[in-house]
Amino acid sequence: YDGIIEIPVVVNIIEKFNGEVTDAQIASQIAILNEDFNNNNPNTSRVPNEFSGLIADYKISFKVNAIYRKISSKASWGTRDAMKSSKKGGIDATDPGHNLNIWVCEIGGGILGYAQFPGGPASTDGIVIGTNYFGKTTGPYGNGRTATHEVGHWLNLRHIWGDGGCSYDDFVDDTPRSDGPNYYCPTYPMVACNSNDMTMNYMDYVYDDCMYMFTIGQHTRSRALFASDGYRSSFVT
Ligand code: ARG
Ligand code: ZN
Ligand code: CA
Repeated sequence: YDGIIEIPVVVNIIEKFNGEVTDAQIASQIAILNEDFNNNNPNTSRVPNEFSGLIADYKISFKVNAIYRKISSKASWGTRDAMKSSKKGGIDATDPGHNLNIWVCEIGGGILGYAQFPGGPASTDGIVIGTNYFGKTTGPYGNGRTATHEVGHWLNLRHIWGDGGCSYDDFVDDTPRSDGPNYYCPTYPMVACNSNDMTMNYMDYVYDDCMYMFTIGQHTRSRALFASDGYRSSFVT
């Protein structure tokens, strides 16, 4: 399937008081996802020539289907999925075969967000974003790109450096090999493993304003999920 895929989004907010995460914050996050997954990030004009022919338009649009809110004084939820369970004080997932579930809560430990790859248990399928990094907030991670990165994982993308040294792969041919993440806002070129790093890829670890592309190869890998035999085919049928 080659056309636009519409992904209904269920936003599960666990907050200290009602409205701590504002409706405007939610709307800004959805707008950023729609920009990034439709090749409308204005920063994309900064992609170096070497990589400009590889820029992909994911043609995925996101639409809020439901917003659930729950009040909790828990200071940090960690990364073991407690926020996804009402028994543990969180909010249960809603129909993950037809919705991207996003949990917004205080994760703690300086963690911006995390995601489950396709193929895991349905009850924990989705992404988790730290309250301060959800939508438009402040600081170098205040432009909503943590969600873009986590949706990348949800769409089967690995980190660009393959989570290892030069021999580790991200299973995408057109992303250059690297030996580790890049941080801050790197100046091109950053050389590793005898090639220039694609630091501006959403699947690196740079600041929000310094990530602004997916590649054709990443797009092909993600799109396979929506084929009739793909793990996320229920979103298109
Ligand atoms: N560390 C997180 C992860 O590996 C997210 C990184 C997001 N980066 C950003 N610039 N917002 O899933
Ligand atoms: Zn990641
Ligand atoms: Ca690669």
